[in-house]
Amino acid sequence: MLNLVLFGPPGAGKGTQSTNLIEKYNLVHLSTGDILRGEVTAQTELGLKAKALMDAGNLVPDEVVIGMINNKLEENKNANGFIFDGFPRTTAQAEALDKLLSDKGTSINHMLALQVPDGELIKRLLLRGKDSGRADDANEEVIANRIKTYNDKTAPLINYYQNLGKYTDIEGVGTVNEIFERLTEVIG
Ligand code: AP5
Ligand code: MG
Repeated sequence: MLNLVLFGPPGAGKGTQSTNLIEKYNLVHLSTGDILRGEVTAQTELGLKAKALMDAGNLVPDEVVIGMINNKLEENKNANGFIFDGFPRTTAQAEALDKLLSDKGTSINHMLALQVPDGELIKRLLLRGKDSGRADDANEEVIANRIKTYNDKTAPLINYYQNLGKYTDIEGVGTVNEIFERLTEVIG
């Protein structure tokens, strides 16, 4: 199995690059943000609870997203591997993911971290916000809170994967194709 964590701040290009990577390596894409937005659209109980947190750029509780990932792993037992996009986002989530995968006799092979300066992130998200309909793209204050949340709660995971010898950073500025090539060079 090939299990990758595609990591990076909001707007770094995790979703964009995942689309190309799942095709090349025949992987299942697990984006907790996409799954949560699906729950919001479907107006499920979970979606109704998550919406306010997401719209403000705050994290939803660990147990909610860990439960979602567990369900997806169970639904995709015969997968070639997974790309985790936007998950894990906290140390508790990283530890839970290790446990879930080890129970299935597998593990994370690699964390690939897209490096993009804050100014470029803000520019990309405001541009997308013009027609994405995402409340968390719509204003600079919320975008700033997403970046702060990333720095406070999520960036420490760099250390977590570094300590496991699984971390590589990737220059995340350039064309989508250039960045895709940088990623595939590391994955091999
Ligand atoms: P999530 O959906 O994960 O959002 P995010 O990580 O904040 O950011 P994005 O998904 O918007 O960015 P991305 O890195 O995927 O970039 P993309 O390819 O889209 O999470 C949303 C919310 O859900 C969170 O705030 C939280 O509330 C909740 N949540 C999700 N997961 C959670 C978890 N594990 N725990 C707790 N809460 C969780 O690209 C961005 C834009 O840039 C696009 O318009 C794209 O076209 C453009 N672009 C991409 N690449 C390039 C390039 N090379 N050059 C120029 N533009 C580019
Ligand atoms: Mg995304």
